[in-house]
Amino acid sequence: MCEPVSRNFPEIPDGCGFLYACEVMKVDYLELLQRNLVDEIEATRAYAATMAMAPPGDIPVLLELLADETDHIAHVAQLISQQTGNPVDYSALVSGVE
Ligand SMILES: [Fe+2]
Repeated sequence: MCEPVSRNFPEIPDGCGFLYACEVMKVDYLELLQRNLVDEIEATRAYAATMAMAPPGDIPVLLELLADETDHIAHVAQLISQQTGNPVDYSALVSGVE
């Protein structure tokens, strides 16, 4: 039986999208990076949805968070490209990536 990685955080219920330790051991670095990319893309969608409901005063903070997530996408995509043998520096191609 797999132990959830989040077992040290009892406030987080099992099966909430976190990787289990046994899952981490079964996947390779590229697969983990690919999962990371999916997580980053989903985070951008979540922030966009949040902005649709946010009070106007919160929009600047949420925009900054959304920009950070797109930076993460560029960085993870670069790491994936290095693993697949066709390295592309996405962080250099996308303007403003920090
Ligand atoms: Fe992120």
